Amino acid sequence: MAWLHKLLRPDSVPLRTMRLDAGHALDVARLHHQGGFARGWEPAECAALIADAAVAADGVFSGGGHHPEGFVISRKAADEAEILSIVVAPARRRDGFGRALLAAHLARLAEEGAVQVFLEVEEGNLPAERLYRHFGFREVGRRKGYYPKPDGTRATAIAMRLDLA
Ligand SMILES: CC(C)(COP(=O)(O)OP(=O)(O)OC[C@H]1O[C@@H](n2cnc3c(N)ncnc32)[C@H](O)[C@@H]1OP(=O)(O)O)[C@@H](O)C(=O)NCCC(=O)NCCS
Repeated sequence: MAWLHKLLRPDSVPLRTMRLDAGHALDVARLHHQGGFARGWEPAECAALIADAAVAADGVFSGGGHHPEGFVISRKAADEAEILSIVVAPARRRDGFGRALLAAHLARLAEEGAVQVFLEVEEGNLPAERLYRHFGFREVGRRKGYYPKPDGTRATAIAMRLDLA
């Protein structure tokens, strides 16, 4: 993926994507906390998730870095997958990391037999929504009051689906 990314965006930071293992749990927990979600993921929860055979976790790294600067995690079931979370470190946003990460992750999910990918995104989260739409995700429904917000209110979730076949 790194060479393709460089070709498409020659002036951007060199990056590579890689599968994550339980040794990356602390990095994932740190990045997840930077995602601005109401409920954080603890390192032990991340380790258990990554070690789960039904879960696919990928990371994006800059240059020769050893710590991921973004991650995406999905749960697989039969020929479907659900993206549970995707986060890029704030300092790396808007530099193609999310796009490279999602491209590698969707290719992996397809390779592993997924034909449909689902996810939920908070209404108003335009960076995420635009990223998903770029890959062909389409809205399939809305859930009012789905996300608890830090201020005690609840936000609507937009359910999206991508057909990989
Ligand atoms: C969503 C997120 C992963 C995008 O990562 P990123 O590395 O900044 O994304 P990229 O630089 O690869 O951008 C890819 C596309 O996403 C969209 N996008 C990303 N950031 C955007 C922004 N601030 N405003 C509008 N569109 C944006 C654009 O379509 C962009 O393509 P373009 O640069 O050609 O316009 C990142 O903003 C993030 O970690 N957000 C916090 C966590 C989160 O909300 N996760 C989603 C939960 S459902």
